[in-house]
Amino acid sequence: MKKIVLAYSGGLDTSIIIKWLKETYHAEVIAMAADVGQGEELAPLEEKALQSGASKIYIEDLRDEFMSDFIFPLLKSGALYEQKYLLGSAIARPVIAKRLVEVALKEGAEAVAHGATGKGNDQVRFELTIKALAPQLKIIAPWRLWNIRSREDAIDYAAKHGIPVPVTKDKPYSMDRNLWHISYEGGILEDPNVEPEKDMFLLTTDPAEAPDTPEYVEIGFKEGVPVSVNGENLDPVALLITLNNIAGRHGVGRVDMVENRLVGMKSRGIYETPGGTLLYYAHRELEALTLDRETAHFKEMAAVKYGELVYYGLWYTPLREALDAFFDCTQRNVTGTVRLKLYKGNVMVAGRSSDYSLYREDLATFEADDIYNQRDAEGFINLFGLPLKVQGLMKKEYKE
Ligand code: ARG
Repeated sequence: MKKIVLAYSGGLDTSIIIKWLKETYHAEVIAMAADVGQGEELAPLEEKALQSGASKIYIEDLRDEFMSDFIFPLLKSGALYEQKYLLGSAIARPVIAKRLVEVALKEGAEAVAHGATGKGNDQVRFELTIKALAPQLKIIAPWRLWNIRSREDAIDYAAKHGIPVPVTKDKPYSMDRNLWHISYEGGILEDPNVEPEKDMFLLTTDPAEAPDTPEYVEIGFKEGVPVSVNGENLDPVALLITLNNIAGRHGVGRVDMVENRLVGMKSRGIYETPGGTLLYYAHRELEALTLDRETAHFKEMAAVKYGELVYYGLWYTPLREALDAFFDCTQRNVTGTVRLKLYKGNVMVAGRSSDYSLYREDLATFEADDIYNQRDAEGFINLFGLPLKVQGLMKKEYKE
């Protein structure tokens, strides 16, 4: 092997991976750092990667692509994993792995490498994407190969090889951050009966310390895609950053859950998805107004499946593409605005409106109306209830 492209984060793990790959394969190692909005300065990574032994580094701004091609389809689907998780880490993996493959092909590399451990979902997501897009590439996952077992081992390895160890205080959790969310796992969180410490959260205020007055926010959608906040049109990245700030100061978007990993075990995760939570709720409210009943109910079932596909790393699959085509079709009339009210960790709907609304006051009203004939209901109930009546008759005769 002559060239390996590594998905590089700048952290301790991927820094020592550069060295380890060079020692183990005697190959040139090229680093690829993806900006998916983790809010960190990526520029210093260049020096760091070179110091750790990379021959060069690609720093790739994937934020626009992440929003348009991954977050928005996810939002249109309305998918959650196990009814709670907004899929923040899962949805970022395919866009990162896609660019990793692009860089590897451009460089003529034989292999790609990543720093995901052998116990998690991320290894699966990275590797399924790589297999789908460039099946000829070899995949190297050092965590499944080397003898490093702990953070201490990693620090020792770094010291031995003169790799700069980040001076930042070690975080007691495994964190993953992007525009959409932050996840926290591991450390003291591994006991699902222990509440996280207050100062763990980086994106949201403690709900108890959030403002005593509620704040309203209005989100505008066009065909299922959010386009404005409080009447101002914003590009996708700016829109999400704006909503993260608004929701964050009211403590909206925290989730604490025990989830089923694809690799078999249950794990406990804490998530902050402030802006995403607003978008999820607002989008759902707008659909309630604009989707017909049967489409809405069918879409709910499809969303459960879609959530599994995203969680399992099955992004580049025929079923995901087919489901996206279905969801896109459902979004044709999901245009309008939703007003939310945020208060101490809660999000409530305060109003919704759409030119394509199927809600008709003249139909729903308790007042007198002339387009709905209440007498029609009798025949409807007689036929709709016929099977129940037959069942009832049978039981009555059988029992007597
Ligand atoms: N449990 C979540 C998931 O599987 C979060 C994973 C976070 N990844 C990480 N490397 N910390 O999507």
